Amino acid sequence: MKDAYSYPKYCDIAYNWDRKPECDFIEECIRRYSDIKVASILDIACGTGIHLREFARRGYDVMGLDKSKEMVDFVMQKSESEGLKINCAQSSMKEFKLGRQFECVICMLDSFRYLLTDEDILSHLKSVAYALEPGGLYILDLWMPKGGTITEWEDISWVQGEKDIRIDARYCQHAGTFDEKAKTFEDELIFRVQSPDFNSVIRSRVKTRALYYGEFKSLIAALGFFDCVGRFYNFDFDLKEGYNIKIVRTNIILKRKRG
Ligand SMILES: C[S@@+](CC[C@H](N)C(=O)[O-])C[C@H]1O[C@@H](n2cnc3c(N)ncnc32)[C@H](O)[C@@H]1O
Repeated sequence: MKDAYSYPKYCDIAYNWDRKPECDFIEECIRRYSDIKVASILDIACGTGIHLREFARRGYDVMGLDKSKEMVDFVMQKSESEGLKINCAQSSMKEFKLGRQFECVICMLDSFRYLLTDEDILSHLKSVAYALEPGGLYILDLWMPKGGTITEWEDISWVQGEKDIRIDARYCQHAGTFDEKAKTFEDELIFRVQSPDFNSVIRSRVKTRALYYGEFKSLIAALGFFDCVGRFYNFDFDLKEGYNIKIVRTNIILKRKRG
């Protein structure tokens, strides 16, 4: 079934707010926390490759991974048209083998929440551990509820455009679908696309995980491959925790242990 991620052209426009500060934040994390020099970056659930292209322009050797064939094809075509050398593999993030290692791995914009169960998360983290050089960082960006009862759910709208294409986008979390036991709920992405050759509303409604930091830390400890070396909010090293609906991004920095 077609969903919003089957339309990479419109995803690329809708997600193309200024992502350079996110890349600056990642580079600063590397400066502060990485034990190794970073020349290569793997982007998990890379989507249309917005971060990949920016890091390739900054001189990194980059590779993406996404489960959607349309996304992978889009990344390869767009990077080629911009003269950038970017490789991209079609694979589930739950378990993957890329046959090489990277010095940094990233997973941005809530994609980590597609891992619905503890087993999925552990399987994913094992794959990341094999793909990441010891001393290197795994940097995550996701909405993470504070714990206990979730009182604030995201519902945000924004507008993006390019040439004669306008997209009215909305992302919302359906609080009524929250399953207390499984800690899953449904979220939805809605793009109202207006352009000369395409006028339609495209949607993706999927099950996702409300992962609490305490649970996450327990899984990291149980696995033993990573240390949690930092937690920040909204790509801002100075922003203090104080959960409210405006502080929606949690940025977690894991370091691959040696040995
Ligand atoms: C919200 S987009 C994030 C795109 C990109 N990381 C960004 O920051 O713009 C989520 C992406 O995750 C991909 N995805 C969803 N489930 C996945 C899975 N199990 N394994 C790999 N990719 C997945 C989708 O195809 C989509 O491209």
